Amino acid sequence: MRVAMIGTGYVGLVSGACFADFGHVVTCVDKDAGKIAALQRGEMPIYEPGLDALVAANVRAKRLEFSTDLKAAVGAAEAVFIAVGTPSRRGDGHADLSYVYAAAKEIAAALDGFTVVITKSTVPVGTGDEVERILRETRPDADVVVVSNPEFLREGAAIQDFKHPDRIVVGAEDERAGKVMQELYRPLYLNRSPIVTTDRRTAELIKYAANAFLATKITFINEIADLCEKVGADVQEVARGIGLDNRIGSKFLHAGPGYGGSCFPKDTLALIKTGQDREAPLRIVETVAAVNEARKRAMARKVTAALGSSLRGKTVGVLGLTFKPNTDDMRDAPSIPLIIALHDMGAKVRAYDPIGMEQARKVLPELHYCEDAYECAKGADALVICTEWEQFRALDLDRLKRVMGPKPAIVDLRNIYPPDELRRRGFIYEGVGRPRENGH
Ligand SMILES: NC(=O)c1ccc[n+]([C@@H]2O[C@H](COP(=O)([O-])OP(=O)(O)OC[C@H]3O[C@@H](n4cnc5c(N)ncnc54)[C@H](O)[C@@H]3O)[C@@H](O)[C@H]2O)c1
Repeated sequence: MRVAMIGTGYVGLVSGACFADFGHVVTCVDKDAGKIAALQRGEMPIYEPGLDALVAANVRAKRLEFSTDLKAAVGAAEAVFIAVGTPSRRGDGHADLSYVYAAAKEIAAALDGFTVVITKSTVPVGTGDEVERILRETRPDADVVVVSNPEFLREGAAIQDFKHPDRIVVGAEDERAGKVMQELYRPLYLNRSPIVTTDRRTAELIKYAANAFLATKITFINEIADLCEKVGADVQEVARGIGLDNRIGSKFLHAGPGYGGSCFPKDTLALIKTGQDREAPLRIVETVAAVNEARKRAMARKVTAALGSSLRGKTVGVLGLTFKPNTDDMRDAPSIPLIIALHDMGAKVRAYDPIGMEQARKVLPELHYCEDAYECAKGADALVICTEWEQFRALDLDRLKRVMGPKPAIVDLRNIYPPDELRRRGFIYEGVGRPRENGH
C-alpha cells in the first residue's frame, strides 16, 4: 500500500520506517527542508536506538523516501497519516491544533482517489470531526474517510513498541477505512496484537486517558516517596510491595524528579482543558499536573539538604539531561528547571549527558558541558544523577571520590545506587524516598 506520512518528527519518522518495514511504500513528508535534506543524506534528526539501520535498509529497498512535496505524496497514497506536533498552546495549555488543521488543508487540496486520512498526532476529542469538516469543505468532491489511530510508542524503545505494541487503537466507523487499517497493520493483525476498534472520539480520548493515568501513577509514588522521607520508610520497598499486586502492577512506580518529556506534561494539560470546557473537571489530573510542576524545582532543595548548607559558590555536577535514557529529547526535561533552580541558588553547575548535549545546548546555552561523567564530577561538592543512563549505573566510585570535593555528596534522583554502600565509601547520599542517614 502507498502511504504518505505528514510530519517526519519522532512519531512520523519511526512510524514511517516501521510501515515501510512491514512492506508498504512510504513517503515521509516534512515542511522542514533541512530535516528532509539530512534524511536524504542518511542523517537521523533524532537519536533512537536502531532507527538509522531501519531507515537505511528500507531506503535501500526503495520502500521509504523523504520529501517536502506533500502534494505528490498525498496524491499517490491510499493512506495519509497526520503526525505533526500538537504542543501546548501558549497561554492556556490547550493543545495547539494549528499544525494539524494546516496539514489537513494541504492534504485536502492534494487528495486523489479513495483516501483514508489517519490522525496519529495526539489530539483532543472532536479533532477528527474538524479535520473531516476541513477536508469536505476544501474538497467536496473527494472520496475520503478520517480515522483516529493514536500512537503509544515510547521514546528510547520506539521501534520495539511500534512493532510489538500492547495494543493498537483504531477509531474508524467506516468499513472501507477499517479494511485499509487492517492492511496497514497486517503483520500485527497476523501476530494477534490486541486491536481496539472503536468510534473516532473514543479513540482520541483513549490516548489522553492513558497518558493521564501513567502521569498519575508516577505522581502518586512521588508523593509516597516524600512521605517515606518524613517517616523513615523506603519507597523502593513500598513500590515493590504494592506493585506485586496484579491490580496495581509494578511499572511506573519509580519515584524520581517528576515526569517530563514531549508528551505527559502537554497531554495532561490538554486533557484538563477539555474537562474544564465540557464541565467535567478532571480534578485528579489537575492535582497531578500541579504537584509535578512544583516537584521539579523542589529537587534542587535536595542538593541543599545533602550539603547541609547554602549552594552559593558550591559546584554541582549534573549527570543526565534528557528526560529519560536512550533519547536525545530535551522537551520538558526535569533537568531544565532543576538546573535553573541550582543556578538561582548560587551554584556553579556543570553537566554531562551521553547523547543529549547537542539538544541541551539549545535550551541551556550557558551551562558548562563536560566530556564525561568524571570531568563533570571534578571538584564538585555534589553530583546529581538526573537521568538513569546505563553508563551512570556503574560509575567507578573510587575515582569519583578522588575527583570530587572533600565532602562529596551524591544526589541520586533515580535511586540507582545502594545508599549504605555509598555512605560506607564516604559519600553523603541523598535519594528519593529513602531513609536519610540519621534515620529520618
Ligand atoms: N514523541 C513521542 O514519544 C510521541 C508518542 C506518541 C504520540 N506522540 C504525538 O505525536 C505527534 C507528533 O509528535 P512528535 O514528537 O513526532 O513531534 P515532532 O515535533 O518531533 O515532529 C513534528 C513534525 O511535523 C512537521 N510538520 C508540522 N506541520 C507540518 C506540515 N503541515 N507538513 C509537513 N510537516 C509538518 C514538523 O516540521 C516536525 O518535523 C504529537 O501529537 C505527539 O503528542 C508523540
